[in-house]
Amino acid sequence: MTRAQSPGKVILFGEHAVVYGRPAIAVPVRELHTTVEVTDFPDGRLGDVYLESPAVGLQAWLTELPEDDAVARITRSALQRLPRREPALRIRIESDIPIASGLGSGAAVSVALARALSQHVGLVFPARVLSELAFEVEKLHHGTPSGIDNTVISHEKPVYFVRGKPPETLVVREPFDLVIGDTGIPAPTAEAVGSVRKRWIEDRRGMERSFDSVGDVVRRARAAIEAGPASLLGSLMNENQILLQAMGVSSDELDRLISAARLAGALGAKLSGGGMGGNMIACVTADRIQPVVEALRGAGATRTIATLVEP
Ligand code: PMV
Repeated sequence: MTRAQSPGKVILFGEHAVVYGRPAIAVPVRELHTTVEVTDFPDGRLGDVYLESPAVGLQAWLTELPEDDAVARITRSALQRLPRREPALRIRIESDIPIASGLGSGAAVSVALARALSQHVGLVFPARVLSELAFEVEKLHHGTPSGIDNTVISHEKPVYFVRGKPPETLVVREPFDLVIGDTGIPAPTAEAVGSVRKRWIEDRRGMERSFDSVGDVVRRARAAIEAGPASLLGSLMNENQILLQAMGVSSDELDRLISAARLAGALGAKLSGGGMGGNMIACVTADRIQPVVEALRGAGATRTIATLVEP
């Protein structure tokens, strides 16, 4: 039996503008995992693969799944890169990363599954290959993914990402704490990306100006992460949130959690990922983690996660 894992992720700065060529920063969240187990399945049909994912009610032979099924797609494309195997395989996926909430659940499944399959046959797909394979699947979720999710999850390091360019991993000078709060409202990325696209078509110049401002925040955030002080990240999150609100991707529930975190002493807070639901993040000093967690719960967060961002 072979077991492989991948973490979740949050986007710290630059979501949406990243689809339009501006930079973004994302970090892995090691408190969240997708685990994939691959076992030989001697009783199975020769050369076939049986897939199980209890969380989404999946139990099927690969040959029965449609072309555009995400799990089937990553399994087929990973198998194509591996030497052919005779015994059937059984693949089991377990994940505690909530779906459609901006925490990278789709990319985490793709990366853990491709990693487990390669290790099962004694090979190790490098991060670049895992990222490429997962990117193909991301395209099924929404037509124009920037590629940031598959990049940060396959590299498992903080990344500075510009669409179409090789990712740069960031060295974090002063580790800093984040609290993540879930609105509990599922928000498919495709919808948020589609609504930003609509605004961009209607007001191209205005939206390009907003994206430029986001790019400027991201570059200043990179400097604060690499050279300090990390405390600047809070006010940069607040600036980024104002720009995201103007793009129309925040929501009442996100705004409520963001204000609660700030009132409880967070250095700053913003939505993270596609928005319109899903998760928000707050940058906090260590002594404010607990008060912010409690404030978020009090304001209706269905789940909170405290995570330390380190090199
Ligand atoms: O909702 P998530 O975490 O998948 O993030 C989407 C991030 C966007 O910038 C909105 C889209 C993208 O492809 O980068």
